Amino acid sequence: MKIQLHEFLKKRKKNRWRPASSGSQSFALVKYFSFTSLAVLLLASLVLTWVLSNNAKKVMLDRSDSYSRLFAENLNRQVFLQFVLPTVVRYGRIALSDSTQFERLDAIVRNITRGMLIESVSIYDSGENIISYSTEPDMVGKRDVGGLEYQKALDGESNSVLISSGSLLNLLPGAPPVYCTLKTYVPFRQDRGLNRRTGEIMGVVEVVKDLSEDLEAIISLQFRIMLLSLTVMALLFGVLSAIVVRANRIMEAKAKERRRLEEQLHEAQRLAALGKMVAAVSHEIKNPLGIVRSTAEMLGKRMSKIAPGNEKLTDIIVEETNRLDGIVREFLDFARPRDPAKVQSSLNELVERLARFMAPEFASKKIVFKMDLSPVLPEVPMDGEQIYQVLLNIIINGIQAMEEGGVISVKTYPLPHGKTVAVEISDTGIGMSDEKMEQIFTPFFTDKNRGTGLGLSISKNIVQKHGGSITVRSREGTGTTFTIILGTREDV
Ligand SMILES: Nc1ncnc2c1ncn2[C@@H]1O[C@H](COP(=O)(O)OP(=O)(O)O)[C@@H](O)[C@H]1O
Ligand SMILES: [Mg+2]
Repeated sequence: MKIQLHEFLKKRKKNRWRPASSGSQSFALVKYFSFTSLAVLLLASLVLTWVLSNNAKKVMLDRSDSYSRLFAENLNRQVFLQFVLPTVVRYGRIALSDSTQFERLDAIVRNITRGMLIESVSIYDSGENIISYSTEPDMVGKRDVGGLEYQKALDGESNSVLISSGSLLNLLPGAPPVYCTLKTYVPFRQDRGLNRRTGEIMGVVEVVKDLSEDLEAIISLQFRIMLLSLTVMALLFGVLSAIVVRANRIMEAKAKERRRLEEQLHEAQRLAALGKMVAAVSHEIKNPLGIVRSTAEMLGKRMSKIAPGNEKLTDIIVEETNRLDGIVREFLDFARPRDPAKVQSSLNELVERLARFMAPEFASKKIVFKMDLSPVLPEVPMDGEQIYQVLLNIIINGIQAMEEGGVISVKTYPLPHGKTVAVEISDTGIGMSDEKMEQIFTPFFTDKNRGTGLGLSISKNIVQKHGGSITVRSREGTGTTFTIILGTREDV
């Protein structure tokens, strides 16, 4: 029944409602914002990379375009002066089908083209869309390859067309290479002196410039920038994640600590309410109990005169009222703990007094009592009566743990720091499991038929009110040791 009460206290503890912590909510918000802004940053840097490389591409094209046009115009002049004029003078007309004329033109064009970063030069006829001359021999004689650009140039308008294929994917091993060609079409005019572009259009010059390498360089730059920004983002993400994980851990620990404190507070409130009830009931029982006992004692005396030999019956009443009185006193101690009245006292003296008081009990329970008291134990401030009760509670528990008898040893010693002393009380009894050890200081926890489960709870309370500590070590079947530390520490 007592264990049930203890279990009941424990269950209520578990079922309590807990408010959601607002701290973790705001942290979740911060986390959300950090990761979102990281994603936005990544997106922005990708867009920036794209804009930058597009810009670089445009600049490259513009420059190449004007380069090609300049080149074409220069070629136009040179060819006109060095080839067209002398040929017309010499042969009367231009006929590229004539190999002498063709070779002469070829020599002149190649001379101009040398070292100029130009892939090929072709000259179209003005009458029909046919290639009359080209630095690529296969192209000579081809028809209708000029297209719209050819027509525009015939109308006097220089123009360019870009044929390219290339993206980041072309950088992958095994992918087709980047391809980029700029074809510029310029009208081929008769030259009438410097800076005059009004001459009759005799054909179209096509200049082909290979820009594959430039495009590849731009794409690989784009790739490097992207790689760099991805690496930076990955690094940032890693750092942010590490911070988040750490913060989460700290917050979890804080939340746990807060829950523990809350639990402690509620536990204290519950125990205070319980204590009030216990005190009221115990107080009501105490007086009638005293009357019952003194009446039984009187009855016993009369009985011995009237009916000798029957005093045993009244003795039983007295014995049981004594036991009840003990329980009621324990309840009251629990319900109304006194503040300790501390004076400098010797722990050794308390132990010796206890040994004298308990000697008959030890003898009857076949218990050997051993003392190992330090001769240099300093006196420490304590309430002698309360500490005596603590030692008594622990020793009685020890006796109860050794039904077949055994050894109880008490050892006192000074601790190295400050005026602090320790007392160890060991028994060779049944010991306890780790699970039980966690519960023994909880009020009403007992596994005894006639126990209250309050002895250790009261003892712990007393020691804590002294500013000391009480700990337990135990092993099932071997025995148990309680250690109490008392006194003032200089190092705290
Ligand atoms: N020396 C010990 N050896 C084994 N078990 C112990 C010992 N001291 C305490 N206990 C366990 O702790 C429980 C609580 O002890 P206590 O608070 O004194 O209450 P009670 O003695 O009334 O049961 C005991 O019921 C027992 O199970
Ligand atoms: Mg006890």
